[in-house]
Amino acid sequence: MILTMNKLITIESHFLQQQKLYPEVNAEVTDLLNDVAFASKLVRREVVRAGLGDILGLAGTTNVQGEEVKKLDLFANEQIINAIGQHGRFAIMGSEENDSIIIPPKNETGNYALLFDPLDGSSNIDVNVSVGTIFSIYRLKGDDPGKASLDDCLQNGAEQVASGYVIYGSSVVLVYTTGHGVHGFTYDPTIGEFLLSHPNILTPESGKYYSINEGSWAQLNDGTKRYIDYLKEEDPATGRPYSTRYIGSLVADFHRNLLTGGVFVYPATKKHKNGKLRLMYEANPLAFICEQAGGRATDGSRRILDIKPEELHQRTPLYIGSVKDVLTAEEFEKGSR
Ligand code: AHG
Ligand code: MN
Ligand code: MN
Repeated sequence: MILTMNKLITIESHFLQQQKLYPEVNAEVTDLLNDVAFASKLVRREVVRAGLGDILGLAGTTNVQGEEVKKLDLFANEQIINAIGQHGRFAIMGSEENDSIIIPPKNETGNYALLFDPLDGSSNIDVNVSVGTIFSIYRLKGDDPGKASLDDCLQNGAEQVASGYVIYGSSVVLVYTTGHGVHGFTYDPTIGEFLLSHPNILTPESGKYYSINEGSWAQLNDGTKRYIDYLKEEDPATGRPYSTRYIGSLVADFHRNLLTGGVFVYPATKKHKNGKLRLMYEANPLAFICEQAGGRATDGSRRILDIKPEELHQRTPLYIGSVKDVLTAEEFEKGSR
């Protein structure tokens, strides 16, 4: 797909245009998205030179997920909390790297909650493979920011007012939605701006890629195994066999499949009985994006955005991507194929 940059539209001017088109995308949400874009520039600055700074490698700690935390995880987490917290627009935050919720020190008008995965794909940090940041924004349930609580962070994904991700790859791309389509921006470091490069992203209704960690084959249930075997069969009429593409960074696998078509599956396994990926700051934000782009996102049967969260770091199986591919995967999971 050749992207023609017929005119340079910065993310800030795009947000202003969107506000005129959709008044319900109020100035507050626009400010929040600008905050997130700003914070991602700070993360990008370190990601693109992680090999040089002293932040490469393990921080020697483990997070609430029981995973080794790499220094860039911590750095990205701090950057996002500080950069966004100081603007006082979020009353409360939930991060993959923090066991419990975060109440920013300075909070003037924050009527919103931010859930985020500061650095997704951390197993790839030291080997120069694309990583990302994923974010999800909710309006507080009540009207008093001073009373913001965990309950404001545990809303169904369908209540999100905005979500998105930044992928730090061969180029840095920010993709977001407020429920009015999906739009992508490419960072131009020569001017320090995100420029509109992927307006109104729509994902193909079926693809040619499937993404799953086949190393977990022994842990997969029968339906998942039969689905993967189905994708490998020769049948030109249904575009099979699909090609496998699995990077190990959800944002990178999701972004590729969003643009080209395909399906990403992280199912329940023996090791991760509820799947590995986290509902609040991985599955929900990407599910909102995916549905807005015409795709589908479920846990193998239930719509991701309808799952009622019980806890901040809860996990879910995730089947996400082209609608026809996800529906086929679901048929195998429920045994009707
Ligand atoms: P994070 O780095 O934020 O913990 O996320 C890693 C996730 C996701 O990015 C990726 O799709 C998945 O872990 C890979 O898991 P496996 O190595 O088990 O396949
Ligand atoms: Mn992640
Ligand atoms: Mn992470």
